[in-house]
Amino acid sequence: MNPSKTIDRRDFVAACASVISAAALGGCASLAIRRVTPVDGRVELALAHYPELSERESVLRILPDGSDDPILVLTDASGSVTALSSVCTHLGCTVEAETTRLVCPCHGSTFDRAGRVLKGPAERSLVRYETRLSDSGILIIDLNRRT
Ligand code: FES
Repeated sequence: MNPSKTIDRRDFVAACASVISAAALGGCASLAIRRVTPVDGRVELALAHYPELSERESVLRILPDGSDDPILVLTDASGSVTALSSVCTHLGCTVEAETTRLVCPCHGSTFDRAGRVLKGPAERSLVRYETRLSDSGILIIDLNRRT
């Protein structure tokens, strides 16, 4: 047996634990909800502090102070950003973001990443908030302006 290719049980378990921990942390980070504080009904997110907003087809979950309902901030394949209420328009459950769509766990309504209904029972699109990107790299989500 080649000694340079052997690994004892303790090292093997430690290596496995490292891999599992890294995977779990990555998974938790993608599921995390970040609290934000709106000012005058606007949420401002500096791209430098939210790197997922610079990635393609990502999702960031934010929870404005005073709200129980997360907002999903999604980027598409071109990098455009959409901010959607996570409240299902059927009976108000919280939709979950999957890779290509948003799915309500309660009765199965499905929405595209722009919030449009793909499958009922929901009949209306998810609430969509107006967004704009400032020259200084701040994404502004206007909670008072729905599109
Ligand atoms: Fe979402 Fe019914 S509450 S499908």
